[in-house]
Amino acid sequence: MKITVAGAGYVGLVTSACLAELGHIVTCIDIQKDKINMLQNGRSPIYEPGLESLLEKNLRNGQLQFTINPHRAYSEADIIFIAVGTPEMQDGSVDLKYIHVVSHTIAHYIEKDVIVCTKSTVPVGTNDLIQEIIHSRKPPNLCAEVVSNPEFLREGSAVIDFFQGDRIVIGTDNPETASTLEQLYLPLKIPIIKTDIKSAEMIKYASNAFLATKISFINEIANLCEKVGADIEEVADGIGRDKRIGHHFLKAGIGFGGSCFPKDTKALVQLAGNADHPFELLEAVMKVNNRQQFLPVLIAKETIGSLKDKKIALLGLAFKPDTDDVRGSASLTIVKELLAEGAVVRAYDPAAIPNAQKILGDTIEYAYDIRFALQDTDLAIIATEWEQIKHVPLDVYRTFMKNPIVIDGRNCYPLDKVQKYPMTYISIGRPAVN
Ligand code: UGA
Repeated sequence: MKITVAGAGYVGLVTSACLAELGHIVTCIDIQKDKINMLQNGRSPIYEPGLESLLEKNLRNGQLQFTINPHRAYSEADIIFIAVGTPEMQDGSVDLKYIHVVSHTIAHYIEKDVIVCTKSTVPVGTNDLIQEIIHSRKPPNLCAEVVSNPEFLREGSAVIDFFQGDRIVIGTDNPETASTLEQLYLPLKIPIIKTDIKSAEMIKYASNAFLATKISFINEIANLCEKVGADIEEVADGIGRDKRIGHHFLKAGIGFGGSCFPKDTKALVQLAGNADHPFELLEAVMKVNNRQQFLPVLIAKETIGSLKDKKIALLGLAFKPDTDDVRGSASLTIVKELLAEGAVVRAYDPAAIPNAQKILGDTIEYAYDIRFALQDTDLAIIATEWEQIKHVPLDVYRTFMKNPIVIDGRNCYPLDKVQKYPMTYISIGRPAVN
């Protein structure tokens, strides 16, 4: 099968490399020349475990190629995956400009019948729009069937998720098209759900919104635990053992970030509003999350008073471990608030410093070593539960900091371990240790 993937972002790249690994001939196209040059040399523009080796291998054996040439990408393709960005507009709705451009380009360059699969996260109804654009502009003798095929990859484990996902969703009313895609995915041995286009589009949003709801729910329970003296780790374990609830996404902390949950929850709230059905539950989920991201700074002020000229170590910039992505990261909110309070911030992250620098510039110091980040600081905030951070021996805080005061936004340390050390340790939804 000749496959083209439009967009060399995180979804497009993982999809390209993994489909090539399955034995297909894959061409990945992007409009950014620098990115394509880098990829042609086997280097990944994003940090994603396992991706670079798949890229290298499949480039070498000719299964995978990168191009900026639309004729080369689209004219011969049997299946085209759309994986272009769908950024957020100022009002929270989704900007579909790249979807429009790519749909026009596909219509212009196809030279044979083709299936166009949308992987980009798009509001319900967008695939109908793509279908309209392509149909009205393609050569009349060709057939182009548009399918919704949302992705459920997580950053940091996207390659594993591609090969071991929980389900594949194929949204089309055309049984023949559904069957072609089913054949494509069959070797993965992942359950396939065949449904209509709009339901497929909604499955994507509803999945992310439900997971975001779980996180805000457990964070509210955590906040309540603090008030009444319960321990959120015990509570999450206790409720998670009910199979109907499950343990996943019950990790309390300083809220969800990333390029998906914040954007997709907002977009679903927008969609609901436009459909004259305000989604009040999801509005509350977003409100709780915004509040949660501010928590470390509130706790810092409660603990040491004014933050003016205080030196603060921020451990973690990425929105979660195993990624260099800082989009929607609680760390960005924390830095903004700390700087507004007059604090001096030194941040450590094993992968995300270059991306953070693009946003924060030289407003803060950057440390490539945790000990250097902690050196002579008045307070430390743990914002991302990287393995490198979780395993810092507790006496390191005492040795390097001016005052060993740690606000752990990701509950990295077991309380009984911390209790053995003379330090102030405040986490989320658990009793403080002084
Ligand atoms: C999320 C979904 O999990 C994927 O299924 C989906 O494909 C993807 O969005 C997308 O729409 O593209 P991702 O954003 O990579 O994936 O990250 P998650 O692992 O879901 O974490 C999101 C945020 O929630 C992180 O900031 C994480 O720290 C936070 N989180 C997660 C918690 O605070 N508690 C938890 O229990 C779990």
